Amino acid sequence: MYTNKQIEIVIASKNRGKIKEIKSILYNKNIRWLTYLDFKGWPEVEESCNSYEENALKKAKVVTYFTKKPTLAEDSGLEIDYLEGEPGVRSARYAGENSTDLENVKKVLNQMKECTFTERTARFRCVAVLYLPNDKFFMSQGKCEGKIDFSPYGESGFGYDPIFVPEGHSHTMAQIRIEEKNKISHRAMALKKLFRIISIDIF
Ligand code: IMP
Repeated sequence: MYTNKQIEIVIASKNRGKIKEIKSILYNKNIRWLTYLDFKGWPEVEESCNSYEENALKKAKVVTYFTKKPTLAEDSGLEIDYLEGEPGVRSARYAGENSTDLENVKKVLNQMKECTFTERTARFRCVAVLYLPNDKFFMSQGKCEGKIDFSPYGESGFGYDPIFVPEGHSHTMAQIRIEEKNKISHRAMALKKLFRIISIDIF
C-alpha cells in the first residue's frame, strides 16, 4: 500500500530571501513546505517585541493558529558593535517602516563613516521556532560573526548581505553562492539545530 509520508510545514514569513534559504537549508523529501501564497487571508504579524525570541514565537504562534498546521518562524537581525548592537531586532525597518534593503544598508554605512577597519565587528543572529497545533514548540538560535565592509558588494542574498563579510572570508555574503552561505549563516545554524532536536518527534 502506498502511504504519503510527507508532512506539511508552513513558513511564517513573507520575505522571499528567507523563504528561499529556509527551503534550501532544510531540503528534505519528507517535508512539503507551504507559504503565505498557499493561504487566503494570511495574518499580518507586527514584530513589536524587543527580542528575537519573542518575535519568532509570536509569528509562529499566530500563523499556526491561522493555518492549523506546524509552522516554522524565525526572527533575525544584524548587530553592529560600533552601533551598540543596532540595528538588531529593528534590522528590517532600520531606515523606517517599509524601508528597502538598500535604504537600510545606506543608513548603516552612513552611521559608520568614521568607523575604522578594526572597529567594524558585527554578527547576524537568528532565533528559529517550530510551533505545533497542540501548542508544543521548539526553539533554537544561531549566529554568524563577521565585519561590516565600507561599501556594498555582490548581488545574491538579501538584506545586509552586500556589506557583511563573514569571519575567515574575504568576500561579502552577497558575493558567495547560496550553498556557501548555508554552510555558515546564522539561519543555517539555528535551523539545523532545530531540526536535529525535533526530527525524532515529527518523522
Ligand atoms: P525579520 O526577522 O523579519 O525582522 O527581518 C530580519 C531582517 O534582518 C531582514 O529584513 C534583514 O534586513 C536582516 N537579515 C536577517 N538575516 C539576514 C541575512 O541572512 N542576510 C542579510 N540580512 C539579514
